[in-house]
Amino acid sequence: MTIRTRLIVSTFLLQVFSMALLGWGVLAVRRQFQENDLLKSATMIERAVERAASDSLIQKDDVALLSYMKFLLGQYPAISSASIRWKTKGREHSATVGIGAPGSQTRMSRLTVSDPADPQRAVDIDLSLDYGVLEKPFWEANRRLAKIILSVWGVTSLLGLFVSFLIARGLTKPIVELSRLAGEIGGGKLGGKLAWDSDDELGGLVRAFNGMSTRLEEFDTVKRNFVSSVTHELRSPLGAIESFLQLIREKVAAGAPEGFAQSKDYIERIAVNVRRLSGFINDLLDVAKIEKGKMECVLRPMELPVVANEVCQFFEAKALQQGIAITNRLPALPSVLGDADRVRQILVNLVANGLKFTASGGQIWIAGEQFRDGGARWIEVTVGDTGRGMDAADRERLFQPFSQGRNISEGVTGHKGTGLGLYIVKSIVDQHGGKLEVRSVPGQGTRISFSLKVAA
Ligand SMILES: Nc1ncnc2c1ncn2[C@@H]1O[C@H](COP(=O)(O)OP(=O)(O)OP(=O)(O)O)[C@@H](O)[C@H]1O
Ligand SMILES: [Mg+2]
Repeated sequence: MTIRTRLIVSTFLLQVFSMALLGWGVLAVRRQFQENDLLKSATMIERAVERAASDSLIQKDDVALLSYMKFLLGQYPAISSASIRWKTKGREHSATVGIGAPGSQTRMSRLTVSDPADPQRAVDIDLSLDYGVLEKPFWEANRRLAKIILSVWGVTSLLGLFVSFLIARGLTKPIVELSRLAGEIGGGKLGGKLAWDSDDELGGLVRAFNGMSTRLEEFDTVKRNFVSSVTHELRSPLGAIESFLQLIREKVAAGAPEGFAQSKDYIERIAVNVRRLSGFINDLLDVAKIEKGKMECVLRPMELPVVANEVCQFFEAKALQQGIAITNRLPALPSVLGDADRVRQILVNLVANGLKFTASGGQIWIAGEQFRDGGARWIEVTVGDTGRGMDAADRERLFQPFSQGRNISEGVTGHKGTGLGLYIVKSIVDQHGGKLEVRSVPGQGTRISFSLKVAA
């Protein structure tokens, strides 16, 4: 049985049961009142008989009692019979009024009345009252009430069935949709989302599911980018190394003197490719450390301008070759708390990006300034360039591993990279307790800033 059917059946049954209970309660309370009314009616008849008996004793007129009893018999059909026994100074005589046969609901009560002026004169009346007749009007009213209750019960049951169907459908619809989407995701169609907005637990479940679906899609993209990056980043330098080695082997076999100079050039190119390979493998190892939460930085007082100078010198030749001016604009700054190797890695990544996305004639600089935040002193280091910048869509993907902007696809000469640089940079800055900020205007340039705490 599906959850929807179970919900419909159980809410319907619950509603039917509660309505039945309510109806039974109304009838039971009403019956209670009727019992009281019944007793009152019986008492009223008995009081009337007692009054008549008392009057006849005072008037010393037995016949008056008999005729009054006959009158009462006509007046109250509930009186089935009355046996009257007169007792006067040891003598007795009796008479019976009415011939009602004793029925299942007939109750007998003995009424004894004495003459107030002469206690030796008394009348015993055995009065038979048929409670069935007394109750008859009540039963009629009850039957009418039961009919009303039944019709209300029927209508509300139908209404309840309809409402339970609506509730069950409302509750199970997102679950059915979620299971369909989960099936799709299981079948490899990632990224499906459910359009469902509510503030209840189901809304929370749908939001969590949509978030999970987005994350799975991101993971899948990362995995795909990872596979293509790894394949490309391993295959192309290895292919180049293999070709240059083959060329060197041929030159050595030929033994020509000019072959030696060419071989030196090939060895230099092999070294470039080996650096590229080891750089990529180091980046992969860093990513693995970040994923495991084991990217640890040892923070010690360090001099930023020194590290920045080293980085500028490292890139000087390449910048010159590309026609780009690279300058260290860091003023004299207090020591900061940082892991010098990792801070160098940040600057190398940012300057390398600047060189990648800046055309000949452009500029790259490293600048910095002090600021205060929450009582602590910080230094914000900015690596700026006058390159092509990036649009909002590219900025969104900056810090995902193996993700590159669309601006990588054209105008980048040389090695395009794998999209790991900023992911690693962000993680290092996080380890330093700092903040990373990107400001970029398409066509005008990019400034990426990170903050480091001033050493006490
Ligand atoms: N200075 C910049 N100017 C323009 N776009 C940039 C700049 N820095 C980063 N980006 C954008 O951010 C993306 C991610 O940069 P990131 O450094 O993580 O990867 P990458 O440089 O493409 O590759 P890798 O750093 O692994 O060699 C880049 O592909 C590019 O789209
Ligand atoms: Mg980079």
